Amino acid sequence: MATMESLIGLVNRIQRACTALGDYGGGDQAFSSLWDALPSVAVVGGQSSGKSSVLESIVGRDFLPRGSGIVTRRPLVLQLQKTEDGQQEYAEFGHLPRRKFFDFASVRKEIQDETDRITGKTKQISPVPIHLSIYSPNVVNLTLIDLPGLTKVAVEGQAESIVEDIENMVRSYVEKPNCIILAITPANQDIATSDAIKLAREVDPSGDRTFGVLTKLDLMDKGTNAIDVLEGRAYRLQHPWVGIVNRSQADINKNVDMMAARHKEREYFATSPDYGHLAGKMGSEYLAKLLSRHLESVIRARIPSITSLINKSIDELEAEMDHLGRPIALDAGHLMLAFQAQLYTILELCRAFDKIFKEHLDG
Ligand code: GDP
Ligand code: NA
Ligand code: MG
Repeated sequence: MATMESLIGLVNRIQRACTALGDYGGGDQAFSSLWDALPSVAVVGGQSSGKSSVLESIVGRDFLPRGSGIVTRRPLVLQLQKTEDGQQEYAEFGHLPRRKFFDFASVRKEIQDETDRITGKTKQISPVPIHLSIYSPNVVNLTLIDLPGLTKVAVEGQAESIVEDIENMVRSYVEKPNCIILAITPANQDIATSDAIKLAREVDPSGDRTFGVLTKLDLMDKGTNAIDVLEGRAYRLQHPWVGIVNRSQADINKNVDMMAARHKEREYFATSPDYGHLAGKMGSEYLAKLLSRHLESVIRARIPSITSLINKSIDELEAEMDHLGRPIALDAGHLMLAFQAQLYTILELCRAFDKIFKEHLDG
């Protein structure tokens, strides 16, 4: 019987193939609705609330640009793909399809360079997403989206419209009914002023798909704690709040690595007089598990609608293939060939998906 993990893996591969198809100008209705039917996870929050840091610790690798001020300036669509134990980890960018990155420091550099390629070395933003895939035995299968932070005012070098532009860009991701929202709020700020919660509540009033994440617990004023938030009394959400301690800027400057950071975070909760009783349900690793479990239940619930969409896509793809011919046609131009190969890949993936679902339901 197929495992749920392989199902999620396949969903990710179809998503990636559809994205690549979009790059050829395909962007057909059936594919975009297929894309929208598949779940993803996006981070929402104020600038420097810790969004990129949270994503990094979910992945368990250091690879995202982070720091004070506006660092994330283009959406980053990140697909995590679990590979077999013992396989070497690597990353691949949508804009550099044939290059494997084995070194995560160079992944970060490429994200920075690719951001600058569109926006220049400025404080401007662009809605054009960067696509990145990470293949690793040490991740759970997830699609994560890192987004620029919500702000209140334009700073020097930014257009007046930037506040609205960022909000609209973020909203365009999180308003999709299949987007799971990680609403990031720093604990050293009053929950009543949280931009993350404000936007999440607007696009997800029932809170079904919103996870509240409280960062910077270590930076709260002495004599205060976040128990009321973490126990759901200050602001109730459907899902439990998760408290996080990411690396501080000083840690980043000292190159404190991920393992050390996780160890420190675990230690923080285990020894905290305020949060010790919640230690098992706090921290980045717990958040990653919570998300993965939620994603599985979402996919399970969507099996009928995804299956019917896939069947529809199979029919449309078959028709398209009949029209274009099979990908080995030698007289076709290079782009056309690539386009067809991509179509073919999606078709194969859809068939595999269909088969796994059937086995899963029978099994
Ligand atoms: P983003 O702008 O929301 O993506 O936030 P970043 O992840 O880039 O983090 C912004 C700054 O806040 C960085 O200097 C981080 O080191 C710092 N930071 C983020 N989370 C925490 C935390 O939990 N504790 C501490 N002390 N600093 C944090
Ligand atoms: Na920042
Ligand atoms: Mg960021």
